[in-house]
Amino acid sequence: MARKEYQIAVIPGDGIGPEVTREGIKVLKAVADKKGFKFRLINYDFGAERYLKTKETLPDSALEELKQMDAIYLGAVGDPRVEPGILEKGILLKLRFGLDQYINLRPIKLYPGVWTPLKDKGPEDIDFVVVRENTEGLYLGVGGFVKKDTPDEVAVQEMINTRKGVERCVRYAFEYARKRDKKKKVTLCDKANVLTYAHDLWRRVFRRVGEEYSDIEKDYAFVDATCMWMVKNPEWFDVIVTCNMFGDIITDLGAMIQGGMGIAAGANINPEGVSMFEPIHGSAPKYAGKNVINPMAAICAMQMLLDTIGEEEAARIVESAIVKTLSSGKLKDLSARSGLKTDEIGDMVVGHIRSEKN
Ligand code: IPM
Ligand code: MN
Repeated sequence: MARKEYQIAVIPGDGIGPEVTREGIKVLKAVADKKGFKFRLINYDFGAERYLKTKETLPDSALEELKQMDAIYLGAVGDPRVEPGILEKGILLKLRFGLDQYINLRPIKLYPGVWTPLKDKGPEDIDFVVVRENTEGLYLGVGGFVKKDTPDEVAVQEMINTRKGVERCVRYAFEYARKRDKKKKVTLCDKANVLTYAHDLWRRVFRRVGEEYSDIEKDYAFVDATCMWMVKNPEWFDVIVTCNMFGDIITDLGAMIQGGMGIAAGANINPEGVSMFEPIHGSAPKYAGKNVINPMAAICAMQMLLDTIGEEEAARIVESAIVKTLSSGKLKDLSARSGLKTDEIGDMVVGHIRSEKN
């Protein structure tokens, strides 16, 4: 039987988005050739240019089309010409919510050959995953203003936590720790000492669901302490599960300890639907079109895409090519000052994929 042809939507987006996704797609082509699977790319031009021309961010019809895809590959959104929030909410968050991608999975993994600002810590110490709730919390946008623009103004932004939403996220984290099969530990990162309603719900759900996972160790850490431990003892973590806002914040810290935004990738996962993969860096407008930005984060996002659609062997080959590239000594650092061009780094990864033994 012929293998299926994967339908992959590509949203290159703004700034450096197009140049980094180009490299990720080069990697996809190389590994598809090697493994003999087929794919079709469907390009979408959502982003600042389209918004400035048409005032449209992401039409509902596109959301329906995207539901038919096997995966979505996103570059970056954000542009200084557009007021903050419009593209983020109108494209990125609309996709996450509209496709019910309730998990934001962010591996914090220090690869050999990559510099970390943490003294005396190496790849054996920095290897954990953050499972961030991705459809609720402070991100839902429930709230409003009273007496706006007056001295008596009130601004309210509600933190929404549903039992169902918390439970599916916590369960995913336990399942992931089991599948990952490393330290078999899940740490709930919260602020239950202050958010005594919202995070009380998280604690109760975590304890209840945790009863079904007797093989997994449970741990609790307040979010401020989590930041401290991530720097002081990152080796304590295996899987961290947390709410949307805290997940956003701690994964930027996580990106720094794994070598920077040049390598951090994330997956927006709907285990029953369509998932979306993206580097977690932004659109970095000042570097756009200069061919200097490191595309490794976008390549790592492609690796996660392959793993999620079921091409685990292809994902393993890509990861091994990433490791070889990073440990080759040719990349001085992962910033825009690596000394290598965007496409040269992509070519190095492709070269390692081609020479990988089957
Ligand atoms: C991220 C980003 C987004 C978020 C922004 C751009 C809305 O910071 O993916 O971490 O806050 O989730
Ligand atoms: Mn963020």
